[in-house]
Order: sequence, then C-alpha cells, then structure tokens
Amino acid sequence: KLIWILHGPNLNLLGTREPGVYGSTTLSQINEDLERYGLDRGIKVDSFQTNHEGALVDRIQSAGPAGVDFIVINPAAFTHTSVAIRDALAAVAVPFVEVHLSNIHRREAFRRHSYFSDLAVGVIAGLGPAGYRLALDYAITTVEADKA
Ligand code: DQA
Repeated sequence: KLIWILHGPNLNLLGTREPGVYGSTTLSQINEDLERYGLDRGIKVDSFQTNHEGALVDRIQSAGPAGVDFIVINPAAFTHTSVAIRDALAAVAVPFVEVHLSNIHRREAFRRHSYFSDLAVGVIAGLGPAGYRLALDYAITTVEADKA
C-alpha cells in the first residue's frame, strides 16, 4: 500500500513563512512525522513538494502507474486557481483528502473557494500540521480496509 503526500507552492518555506498563520513546524518535520507514522503501520508514505503547477500535474498523472492508493494534498495557492490540478486528480481517480494548515474560511474571501473540495473525500483546514496526521490516519484506515 502506498500513500502520497503532495504539497503545493511556498510550503517549502514552512517554519519561517508567516509563522503567525502557518506555525513554526518545518516541512521536513511534517514529512518525517508522516513517513514514520506510516512505516509504523506498515504503509509506505512518500512526500513531494513543488512550486510549479505543471510539476504537480505530472506527479498526479504518475500516481496511477505508481500504484498510489490514496493522496493527501495541500495544493496551497493552487487551491484557489488550478483547474489543471483538479482535472489531473479527477483523471487518475485516486481518492484524496484536501488539507490546509490555516482555516481558509476565516481569511481573505478569495481563499474560501477551492477547486478541489467537491472532488475530495474530505477536507481539513485550520488544524495546522495535525491536519496532515489526521488525514493520513484516515487514509491508512481506508487503504487497510481495502486489503480485505
Ligand atoms: C494553505 C492556504 C492557502 O490559501 C495558501 O495559499 C497556502 C497554504 C494552507 O495550508 O493553509 O499557501 O493551503
């Protein structure tokens, strides 16, 4: 079983980027935590971050051939702009949970709309790095159930 964690633009700056909004945990800390959490449960968790829309589209397209069972994605700013990434997720039809560190509903109005939420199995926003953990926990439970 394989779960992918995908991070969009500027999330490589976590730790120093607007800490009042996004907290002080770095992206490597988040990824290491998730990878270890998966391994402890016998599930391979691979993480990927890019600042480039096309790179995220390419990565998502390769999820089918790579045998990915579930995706946890924080599309970051692309949440509010990218029909291309939405279409890629629809094309591969791998179930996914959408995660945001901040609560996008209590910020600027333009962050309230997501191109992903209606395709997602679920959405977590505002819980910081714990949101990724909760999403991964859900993903693991789901892919484990599929084993039967
Ligand atoms: C974000 C919220 C987005 O609006 C923003 O563009 C981000 C991060 C979050 O995790 O809270 O880059 O997805």
